[in-house]
Amino acid sequence: MTDTIVVLDFGSQYSQLIARRVREAQVYSELFPWDAPAAQVLALKPKGYILSGGPASVYAPGAPQVPHYVLDSGLPMLGICYGMQALTHALGGRVAPAAEREFGPAEIETIQINPLIHPGRQPVWMSHGDRIEALPEGFISLARSPNSPLAAMGNLETRRFGLQFHPEVRHTPGGFEMIRRFVVDICQAVPDWTPESIIQQSIERIRAQVGKASVLSAVSGGVDSSVATALVHRAIGDQLVSVFVDTGLLRQDERLQVEKAFGAAMGMRLITVNAIEEMMDALENVTEPERKRRIIGETFIRTFEAQAAKVGSPHFLVQGTIYPDVVESRAPDRSKGDRIKTHHNVGGLPEDMIFELVEPLRYLFKDEVRAVGEALGLPAELVWRQPFPGPGLAVRCLGEITPERLATLRAADAIFTEELGRAGLLRMTRPATGKGEGDQGTAQAFAVLLPVRSVGVMGDLRTYQEVIALRAVTTEDFMTADWARLPYDLLGRVANRIINEVHGVNRVVYDITSKPPATIEWE
Ligand code: XMP
Repeated sequence: MTDTIVVLDFGSQYSQLIARRVREAQVYSELFPWDAPAAQVLALKPKGYILSGGPASVYAPGAPQVPHYVLDSGLPMLGICYGMQALTHALGGRVAPAAEREFGPAEIETIQINPLIHPGRQPVWMSHGDRIEALPEGFISLARSPNSPLAAMGNLETRRFGLQFHPEVRHTPGGFEMIRRFVVDICQAVPDWTPESIIQQSIERIRAQVGKASVLSAVSGGVDSSVATALVHRAIGDQLVSVFVDTGLLRQDERLQVEKAFGAAMGMRLITVNAIEEMMDALENVTEPERKRRIIGETFIRTFEAQAAKVGSPHFLVQGTIYPDVVESRAPDRSKGDRIKTHHNVGGLPEDMIFELVEPLRYLFKDEVRAVGEALGLPAELVWRQPFPGPGLAVRCLGEITPERLATLRAADAIFTEELGRAGLLRMTRPATGKGEGDQGTAQAFAVLLPVRSVGVMGDLRTYQEVIALRAVTTEDFMTADWARLPYDLLGRVANRIINEVHGVNRVVYDITSKPPATIEWE
């Protein structure tokens, strides 16, 4: 069994980030609500606990507490912000409300040699309301900041620690090393959570689940379904049948890329179903966005069902659910769970088809999914692909969908993508300072064809043609987004190329709305 560190979530926005950092230290970590049933947590045989931050005050009625099974475990513990206060409170120390909340950058100075924080001074990201007035018995102060004599505390004998700042955020540059020291040196967890070991464990789990049965997979070219499918293929080979539906709404060369990656390179049984004509017929004269989505979803499902029947209606279906989906859908705070949008299931699978799901990515973060994809030999362009909506180009081809208009959109989109790729802007990079400020690159970038014609002049001829809007955003979670500050000369080059190379377009505009109030897609 893999050594595991359990992160108990007290409601901080950074809780997932803590688990990710632990895994970056190559130790497996899972996140549980602070009041999860003890048996569920103990089943993982944790090597240590991290208590996250959170918005509450320890003395407030109903405030989250450190569970007894954790306190009684005798295992190392690391409390972060609220977690530190809850630990102090539970162990008999005293927490008092502070007059002011301390929030933002600060510098700490280590005042006691200890295994968690290296000696000297370092910048950290503070965030706490309450303050610790009396340490629990056996604890000493390990570091101080100008505003706090207790920026870090520890009981070196019981290996329990508390930090008043966030080691998990990038604004605490030395924070990752603290987390690594906690999990590897203090908890003595073996750092063996690597893409290779993830693949090995997944293979065993998949084989144990499906036995000799056959398994179906719907490949879309998206990162998650691709990596999930490749993993299942590695585990069970020809027991897997993959179906790829060409809806006619794919981007340039997408079908080819998928067929090459899975068919030729992996030797997978990949059935490509050509549903282009059917889809175009179904979408004829449809312009209303929600109707488009519904028709695409239904046509996709019908095609997929027919194909499933042809290959003997397998009992199992691969699904690319990843860990953040799992964590968010079980969030005790319903407002969090509700964030998962229902419309994202469009182009997904029928509710009345009964499958048992195989979900090999259920415990993986997105960056781990990508690392596993690369280790499985999937091509970089697939593994690093930006998200693409289920209804495909249809929601970017405003107005009526015709093969000609789709061809125009596809060609413009390919030029935009090619130029962004050349400039190294198809991924997001962010500087270490200032949340969200100075983001580079794009999280999602694409072209949209508008059903609006404008007048232009080309050579001596007057033109009257449609408009391409370029959309490019920076975002971390796709719930909010800002428009990408792309270089002017890049935008100029893209516009020029689109006008010169793409038939039917005589004007290019750049969308400078953020989300909210706009959405990322135009429909
Ligand atoms: P919006 O446009 O809502 O998009 O800001 C947020 C993210 O969701 C994607 N998106 C979809 N994905 N089916 C999907 O699978 C859909 O109908 C759909 N609509 C939007 C969008 O591309 C962006 O990444």
